Amino acid sequence: MTNVVVIGSQWGDEGKGKIVDWLSERADVVVRFQGGHNAGHTLVIDGVSYKLSLLPSGVVREGKFSLIGNGVVFDPHAFVAELERLAEKGVTVGPDRLRIAENTALILSVHRELDGIREDAASNSGTKIGTTRRGIGPAYEDKVGRRAIRAMDLKNMETLPAKVDRLLTHHNALRRGLGYEEVAHETLMDELQSVAETIVPYIDRVWKILDDYRRRGARILFEGAQGTLLDIDHGTYPFVTSSNTTAGQAATGSGIGPGSVGYVLGITKAYTTRVGEGPFPTEQDNDIGQFLGERGYEFGTVTGRKRRCGWFDAVLVRQAVAINGITGIALTKLDVLDGLDEIRICVGYKLDGEEIDYLPASQGAQARVEAIYETVEGWKATTAGARTWNDLPAQAVKYVRHIEELIGAPVALLSTSPERDDTILVTDPFHD
Ligand code: IMP
Repeated sequence: MTNVVVIGSQWGDEGKGKIVDWLSERADVVVRFQGGHNAGHTLVIDGVSYKLSLLPSGVVREGKFSLIGNGVVFDPHAFVAELERLAEKGVTVGPDRLRIAENTALILSVHRELDGIREDAASNSGTKIGTTRRGIGPAYEDKVGRRAIRAMDLKNMETLPAKVDRLLTHHNALRRGLGYEEVAHETLMDELQSVAETIVPYIDRVWKILDDYRRRGARILFEGAQGTLLDIDHGTYPFVTSSNTTAGQAATGSGIGPGSVGYVLGITKAYTTRVGEGPFPTEQDNDIGQFLGERGYEFGTVTGRKRRCGWFDAVLVRQAVAINGITGIALTKLDVLDGLDEIRICVGYKLDGEEIDYLPASQGAQARVEAIYETVEGWKATTAGARTWNDLPAQAVKYVRHIEELIGAPVALLSTSPERDDTILVTDPFHD
């Protein structure tokens, strides 16, 4: 049985929601393996729209099981709020349908505050990352620093105080240094106690559940968040998120062997966007960028921030194909390019006078690369709503074929509008 991992092959916001929704209908179990509630997408099912940030997409579908893996950083307050929002829409997500890995690190108020404090301080020094201020980075720091409070700790109120002390020793030292008030032990204990009762029934051994599903030959969908260029190792460091957003993390972030990951579907936008700070070689801070942003409705789902927009960067996506082992891509938002006379594609970079065909790893070099473009003819007819190749103008087909060639991976799905059925299916990633 083929399992599928869905990852973003650019800077996130490639349109994963619609594709994950479509795939989750075919899956038996849906697993989140990294990130936290910094992600966000909207699913529209039978005319009702659901906004999800932390919960896997399987939760809005009857008969699907959902898992939050150990690679996620889990904000219990965001979790409770998301459960409540779903309940208002008539969707009850109990432990019969969702489990959280016992070894998942928690995001607490101290992390959220620290994220905000640092971003505010950085605004004045020019080192701002432009985070979602959800506490993601500080929570991962504590996990790697071996002082995190983990989901399983909520089950044992006797051992919790010592863990809270250890965490606060670190945070209060930081807070003092930054000129902020210390957090009292009781405050954090109260915070944890207030959510423990709700969370504890969901806590489980996710690795074991996944192993059982795998042995039964069930279909597993690994739902990635953010995108390859935001990966802590492979992205545009330090302007990245604090987790591995690439396909390999599906295994370690959920507790399954890499051989079980299967098909890697890279969600890829027909142009490029990014939110937050950092290098963006094909950015168009001009009328074209404005056009793409307005036509593509490029505003963040989580923070509402305007996304930066630019031409398709084949260098970046080719690198993403290599790093993730992308089997096929889902190309999204092709219709946003409808009506343009000419379309540009970045096919290489110039760095200090020399041509290169990859994104260099250093921050300085990333800031200096200049895009080398190829210009292709646009198409006047609309691609919006196309459901077969024959519905597409010849130039649009040529654009898609050229992208395949440049990135070295085939298009498995082509999405031509936010509507679910407006999709051209070339290969079903779950197909055995
Ligand atoms: P953090 O993940 O909140 O720490 O933010 C770090 C960087 O990742 C910032 O540039 C954010 O804008 C970006 N980021 C985080 N989550 C997403 C997402 O879901 N889509 C796009 N960018 C994101």
